[in-house]
Amino acid sequence: MTTKEVLVVTGCGGMGIAVARRLGAGRSVVLADYNSKMLSQVGEMLHNEGHDITTVESDVSSQESVRNLVSIAASKGEIKVIVHTAGVSPVQATPKQIVDVDVMGTAYVIDEFVEVVGPGAVLICIASMAGTLMPMATDIEHLLATTPTAELANLEILNPATMDSGSAYSIAKRANQVRVQVSAMQWGAKGARIASISPGIISTPMGQQELEGASGDAMRQMIEASATKRIGTPDDIANAVAWLADPATSFVTGIDLLVDGGVVAALRSMGVR
Ligand SMILES: NC(=O)c1ccc[n+]([C@@H]2O[C@H](COP(=O)([O-])OP(=O)(O)OC[C@H]3O[C@@H](n4cnc5c(N)ncnc54)[C@H](O)[C@@H]3O)[C@@H](O)[C@H]2O)c1
Repeated sequence: MTTKEVLVVTGCGGMGIAVARRLGAGRSVVLADYNSKMLSQVGEMLHNEGHDITTVESDVSSQESVRNLVSIAASKGEIKVIVHTAGVSPVQATPKQIVDVDVMGTAYVIDEFVEVVGPGAVLICIASMAGTLMPMATDIEHLLATTPTAELANLEILNPATMDSGSAYSIAKRANQVRVQVSAMQWGAKGARIASISPGIISTPMGQQELEGASGDAMRQMIEASATKRIGTPDDIANAVAWLADPATSFVTGIDLLVDGGVVAALRSMGVR
């Protein structure tokens, strides 16, 4: 009996569900989230749609929890695609939670999965256009990219006391982009690839919560000013994930793919750096 390829999806919110649907058919899908109620509801929904689903309650801000997820996923077969969507946004979380989940969680996923992947595997981490728009000195970016995970949270730039949730999120997402880039070497040594996607404003539960929050008006103005003048859908992101996960992109690694409907393009055309 041939074993199926394994698809791991962290986060079973808007993007995680779209990715599982887009890439899950014919694969063994390992779905992870720390919200056990949502995890079992989404797992059941995808199972009823015909997918082969294993749910794993996992908190990505805990290295031990990520390690447990990796070992369960590896026991299912050859891990081919990992899509890390689990994360928290400024309206949902304190600066400390954003550092713990968005920065450390992504670092743990990168570090733990590289131990078990083989040739042809790919990890796609979801960053954000907030990271693309975050001005940052090159030496700080280098620290965020290369500081060993065990010391990462000690960096002054990640001190939660020095920032609000909005700036914590932008710094976290820039950290994701640069850490993914530098990790391409380690993943390449395994014959595997890694990339990030930076979504613009996407209509998921998180996106809708942000639109209802203090930044909602500014976000609507960004959509209106953008090249496409529309909000993104979870499928827009799943399509980009599918492209990056395809063996046809075997020459693409260490990149960040901006999928924002042209919001950053519009801001740059207005002189915003
Ligand atoms: N929606 C947007 O507009 C937007 C824009 C840019 C970037 N992003 C990023 O895209 C990713 C996916 O967001 P989404 O829109 O699908 O959000 P979502 O809120 O719909 O889903 C996120 C999921 O992550 C889970 N999660 C949160 N913290 C976790 C933890 N510590 N361990 C395990 N699971 C955890 C949540 O329970 C939730 O199910 C996030 O990293 C987010 O920052 C979203």
